[in-house]
Amino acid sequence: MILLVLVGLIVIAQFFRIDKTAPAVNASQDFLTLAAAPADVAALVRDACYDCHSYESKYPWYSNVAPVSWMVKKHINEGRENLNFSIYDTYSPEDKGEILEECAEVIQEGEMPLKSYTWMHPEARFTDAQRQQLIGWLETMSGGERMGEYQEEEDVD
Ligand code: HEC
Repeated sequence: MILLVLVGLIVIAQFFRIDKTAPAVNASQDFLTLAAAPADVAALVRDACYDCHSYESKYPWYSNVAPVSWMVKKHINEGRENLNFSIYDTYSPEDKGEILEECAEVIQEGEMPLKSYTWMHPEARFTDAQRQQLIGWLETMSGGERMGEYQEEEDVD
């Protein structure tokens, strides 16, 4: 009886599908485009961060299966709220620097990408060398204020 109810609930849950639509990406606001990231660094960020922190999320097959789909959607919603690389250029110059520093920090501490994500996405597991490369690049970008300069150039006039 309990089993039947459970199966029934899981079947009903499948009707509550997640919304996978996202606004079109404006390349002129996209972090990796603006930062002119070297190809290997760009690939790391894209593989490890963009599914949750951009409008370019790629949805795996299990994102069609409730209740896992709801967890995927929650991560994407919260990820984008915290940091959305697709609208990076809309952040203030100070925020941009801080965001990149924070990225370096959470990668260093192993907080990002989320464990539940790397578990299912082997391509998002960094080797030590990749982690150091990415952190080094992020720190240069945040300290170098290159994104800030870009912003100022645009704001002149
Ligand atoms: C599976 C989805 C997912 C992936 C992949 C992911 N994040 Fe996150 N990220 C989140 C969520 C959810 C939050 C907000 C809640 C939290 O902090 O755990 C977050 C928060 C953050 C924050 C805000 C700081 C904080 O601790 O609150 C930063 C910075 C960040 N992520 C950077 C990254 C970077 C850089 C990558 C790639 C190396 C990445 N994330 C990959 C889901 C993800």
